[in-house]
Amino acid sequence: MAVKRISNENDMKLCVVMVGLPARGKSYISQKIVRYLSWLSIGCKCFNVGNYRRVLGVDKPKYGFFDFDNMASYHVREAALEMAFKDITEWFDGNSDSDNIDNTGHSNGSLTHSVAILDATNSTRERRDWILQRCHEHGIQPMFLESWCDDPETIAANIKDIATTSPDYEGQDECSASQDFKKRIENYKSVYSSLNTADDKSLTFVKLINISHEIVINRIETYLQSRIVFYVMNIRIRPKCIWLSRHGESIYNVEQKIGGDSSLSERGLKYAAKLRELINENVENNERLSVWTSTLCRTQQTAQYLPYEKLEWKALDELDAGVCDGMTYEEIEDVYPEDFKARDDDKYEYRYRGGESYRDVVIRLEPVIMELERQENVLIITHQAVLRCIYAYFMNVPKEESPWVSIPLHTLIKLEPRAYGTKVTLIKANIPAVSTYKEKGTSHVGESTDAEGAHNMLVNAPEMTQ
Ligand SMILES: *[C@@H]1O[C@H](CO)[C@@H](O)[C@H](O)[C@H]1NC(C)=O
Ligand SMILES: *[C@@H]1O[C@H](CO)[C@@H](O)[C@H](O)[C@H]1NC(C)=O
Repeated sequence: MAVKRISNENDMKLCVVMVGLPARGKSYISQKIVRYLSWLSIGCKCFNVGNYRRVLGVDKPKYGFFDFDNMASYHVREAALEMAFKDITEWFDGNSDSDNIDNTGHSNGSLTHSVAILDATNSTRERRDWILQRCHEHGIQPMFLESWCDDPETIAANIKDIATTSPDYEGQDECSASQDFKKRIENYKSVYSSLNTADDKSLTFVKLINISHEIVINRIETYLQSRIVFYVMNIRIRPKCIWLSRHGESIYNVEQKIGGDSSLSERGLKYAAKLRELINENVENNERLSVWTSTLCRTQQTAQYLPYEKLEWKALDELDAGVCDGMTYEEIEDVYPEDFKARDDDKYEYRYRGGESYRDVVIRLEPVIMELERQENVLIITHQAVLRCIYAYFMNVPKEESPWVSIPLHTLIKLEPRAYGTKVTLIKANIPAVSTYKEKGTSHVGESTDAEGAHNMLVNAPEMTQ
């Protein structure tokens, strides 16, 4: 079972140091990077200095706290940064000791290359020197990521978001919170110095100007660094919806066979017609939508009535079951009992003979995810395993759990990515279909009614039946 590595040995410890004034989307960008790298099985964690400041007892400071001549608060901020940095070094060390060996004895490749994100606001040159020095002492590569923005709309949206969601302003009305926050920003402005290629030419850095309007990159050296740069270059912040649906019930679904390229069943065809209605009701007329399908017959039949621009992606094809393609789970258990068990034991890593694993699917989906970040509204009609992987990316589902997420047939899923997480809504089409869910340890298909556990995550989303 080969584990595909995404980076090389030079990338052992990378610390992405966020730079920029408050309300420039730094936390949003940090969290997206964590989600993206974790999805690719690269150990990644964000350390937010504001949280350490709150741990030190300063939990609802007024803007005066951020006055850079205020010595008392200077010490608290200093201590918060020290604590964050200490945790970063311990986190890296912890990873290189025991965690990278999984219980089967294989090095699992996911935690050896780790990325810490230092989500802090302080942005003076002196402070960057302090961080550089500390990174150097601990064998950590520093990479600065600045979000520079003077687009009043983006800033206003971020201020509103922080005033209403930050623990610093909990219990305060939005108006006074925003006013205080704007003064906090002014305090930072008085000491802020932006990165530039003249003064900082020795640093590894990326500077995003108005998110994706213009990007300055300097001394990007390793593969992992360039992956992060490529990802942040594709981030857009306009609000959008991503719609997900499995194909309608297929003949193979009814026969409980996996894989293949069968047509839709009669009920599946009904869902295709219903999908057009659901989309019409839920997507505003003037909104653009592109419909993405796999190259397989069942997803294209499901998309056939949708009057939108369509795109076929080979990368959206179902997980390749290799020699088991066209078999039922019962037959697989019969013919390949060891494989059947191995897959249940580690469904994410298990690769079908001559086929794929979930990890393989994630890797081939990466360009789809990158394009999704750039695009506006998209409806993706694809297959169970592929949808699980896409869902895991947006919902930050750990990779051990993602292959067990239940994604029922004849259900439209609406995802709305927001600054702090993604909102999910399920829209049931009310057309019966078989269940294709297989629980661990059985070759039976179908969910037991009291099924608990990770795979039921989707059930907690608000539901609408139509
Ligand atoms: C930022 O760095 C400067 C200089 O090192 C220091 O005076 C200031 O207090 C720091 N601010 C924060 C929020 O840590
Ligand atoms: C950023 O965007 C705003 C609004 O679109 C624009 O006025 C400003 O010039 C942009 N700044 C840069 C450096 O591109």
